[in-house]
Amino acid sequence: MNNYPHNLLSIEKSATGRRGVKYAPAQKPANAYLPQNLLRAAAPKLPELSELDAVRHFSNLSRLNVGLDTHFYPLGSCTMKYNPKAYDVLAALDNFTAMHPFAPVETAQGTLEIIYKLEEVLKAATGFDAFTLQPAAGAHGEFTGALVAKAYHAARKDKQRTEIIIPDTAHGTNPATAAMCGFNVVAIKSGPDGRVDMAELQKALGPKTALVMLTIPNTVGLFEKQIKEAAQIIHDAGALIYMDGANLNALIGMVKPAQLGVDIMHINAHKTLATPHGGGGPGAGFVGVVKTLEEFLPFGRVNFDGKKYAFAKPSKKSIGSVKSFYGNIAVLLRAYFYLRQFNGETLKEISQNAVLNANYIRALMERDFPVYFKETSMHECVFTIDKDKMNGVKTLDIAKRLLDLGFHAPTIYFPLIVPEALMVEPTETESRQTMDTFAAAMAQIMQEAQTNPDLLKNAPQNCPVKRIDEVSAAREPNLHW
Ligand SMILES: Cc1ncc(COP(=O)(O)O)c(C=O)c1O
Repeated sequence: MNNYPHNLLSIEKSATGRRGVKYAPAQKPANAYLPQNLLRAAAPKLPELSELDAVRHFSNLSRLNVGLDTHFYPLGSCTMKYNPKAYDVLAALDNFTAMHPFAPVETAQGTLEIIYKLEEVLKAATGFDAFTLQPAAGAHGEFTGALVAKAYHAARKDKQRTEIIIPDTAHGTNPATAAMCGFNVVAIKSGPDGRVDMAELQKALGPKTALVMLTIPNTVGLFEKQIKEAAQIIHDAGALIYMDGANLNALIGMVKPAQLGVDIMHINAHKTLATPHGGGGPGAGFVGVVKTLEEFLPFGRVNFDGKKYAFAKPSKKSIGSVKSFYGNIAVLLRAYFYLRQFNGETLKEISQNAVLNANYIRALMERDFPVYFKETSMHECVFTIDKDKMNGVKTLDIAKRLLDLGFHAPTIYFPLIVPEALMVEPTETESRQTMDTFAAAMAQIMQEAQTNPDLLKNAPQNCPVKRIDEVSAAREPNLHW
């Protein structure tokens, strides 16, 4: 980094006594109100800046970000879906955000109505009989779903079911969930087409199987065409089938997962239903179940008696509580607005556009970057590189070079079953022109790999932070400024 003013830290720009705004001294100093033992011995060392310095500092910092509002964002598995800006205004209304967690239900009727109605629209969109809106993330939804399966088998006194079967194309959170819920993970290898190998599944199923967790579409962007047959043999073995529906943005409006034979599914609201994903902020992992599993759902569901909304009396067989309150209400609101604004044919169109965009990019890029599994992609496509043509250039170098060319990088080295994976997922509302520009940048990178591979190996060149030494960063981290 050089020392241009916009590259300095705010503390480096600080000058003693400089102020943006000066207030009249307080009539009574703050320490008159606070216990003496909590008072600071000295003033905090905060940067002292003019208003212009402070505004420029934060504006410049915000411009260093590469995100959906500034760049094409093809991050596979975690792409930003369409998040209408208008919903931010609605979801920020005080009526919802200023609600006290212990507000009496009489004063929370509007919020409870939305929670109730969101469950209704989710049921209509997916075919499930009941939902819990409690889980705050996808993995939290999986955790809830796996506990529901455990409670179901326990209620039937079927205590030997200690295993969860998970194919190698599942999302990584699935085995972690199974382990956290006290199950043993039985991993099965996918077939050569990237889908569940039915013979492997049949072999793994047995009296110990509690649940089979399938990510649909899976992490290589493929739909499990034999899902109905899989559901049949799973049920025949006395087990339940869980669909990791985090990738539902490729299917919503096209198919109701419950009709495929699925018993439990979670949806990542922050991947499919209008909340940005990847910001580390609140999310929601709504879990839908078939009728026989409803009584095991966690507390916190809402009832309507025709006049009043209220929290439902917990069922005795419920797995209990998985979260306090609805602090993530803004995520629920966005999901509700989305499913009210888009339904039926328009919802279907959203999925179709997600699939179309992924396959369009794939068709353009396939000339230079081989697609690992040849089947038609769903919402994302996974490329690899032809090492013989790359002059030592790796997937990591491609991702770094894309930053130079003005694009967010795709997901790389995931899924693990694809060597040198490059996973691209365009937002469904991206224009053809933007995707053409991205494909042209990828073609340029391929060209550069032939003519100037060092350019790629040392990328990025145009970013404020250059290539970091990742090995030293991991082995000898310097965590002090
Ligand atoms: C397929 C799939 N399953 C589960 C998850 C986990 O969701 P979360 O990160 O909200 O826990 C993700 C995250 O993107 C995912 O893509």
